[in-house]
Amino acid sequence: MPEAPPDGGPTLHVEDVDVTYGRALSALRSVSLTVPPATVVALLGANGAGKTTLLRAVSGTLRLHRGAVTAGSIRYGDTVLDGKDPVAAVRAGVVQVPEGRRVFAGLSVDENLRSGGLGLGRRGRAQVQEARDRVFTLFPRLAERTHQPAGLLSGGEQQMLAIGRALMAAPRLLLLDEPSLGLAPQMVHRIAEVVREINAQGTAVLLVEQNAGMALSLASHAHVLEVGETRLSGPADELARTDAVRRLYLGESAQDQGAA
Ligand SMILES: Nc1ncnc2c1ncn2[C@@H]1O[C@H](COP(=O)(O)OP(=O)(O)O)[C@@H](O)[C@H]1O
Ligand SMILES: [Mg+2]
Repeated sequence: MPEAPPDGGPTLHVEDVDVTYGRALSALRSVSLTVPPATVVALLGANGAGKTTLLRAVSGTLRLHRGAVTAGSIRYGDTVLDGKDPVAAVRAGVVQVPEGRRVFAGLSVDENLRSGGLGLGRRGRAQVQEARDRVFTLFPRLAERTHQPAGLLSGGEQQMLAIGRALMAAPRLLLLDEPSLGLAPQMVHRIAEVVREINAQGTAVLLVEQNAGMALSLASHAHVLEVGETRLSGPADELARTDAVRRLYLGESAQDQGAA
């Protein structure tokens, strides 16, 4: 059935998804979530909970890691994404920024950005230029360093480049995997601003974070994964008030909660 959300963009529907790696390793069990158009949804959870696996399932990169969706469905509007390859996801408007900001260290900033729109087929110069302008407006520091090898950028700048490269494909849904990992507080703050700005421009964001405070401040809804299963889901402000989230992910002790 065709969908017609208020502002016209598709909604991501992940329904009862199971993911298995290899023959036996069950990484996700019956996980469901939705990302409505132009919203930010946060995905939280400890190391190994299955956050990256969920993003891979949506972006079609699971197979590159010998994983497969073995039950449930993933749809973006009317487009079925489960079992598809990354090109199909990118064409549908869904682009993942992998964890660990994997930029091509030996290539220049500009070359890294140009690799971002590949797979989209014929795109006019004007479209590519528009995407580049958007990236450089968002990240003026990259504009100053177009010819520098990406490997010489700071960690924060490499994260910006990784995000910028994804934006070159003009996504309607951006899948961001731990963008703040290993960055100094000031840079984490900058990344948060960038996510807010990208979202304000109408792009939906599924944000995986270990920095729960940052993620919950950006998101409207959030889900907490625990060893492959959804432990908690709800509006971000409600989750931020639950004892479990405050204790486990916001670094507060039981005493803090008693005192608050
Ligand atoms: N390529 C892979 N092959 C086998 N197991 C994997 C692979 N990638 C991840 N896993 C396993 O799947 C589970 C979820 O991992 P992951 O999605 O990376 O968690 P998170 O991103 O929340 O840290 C873990 O038990 C992890 O060891
Ligand atoms: Mg991960």
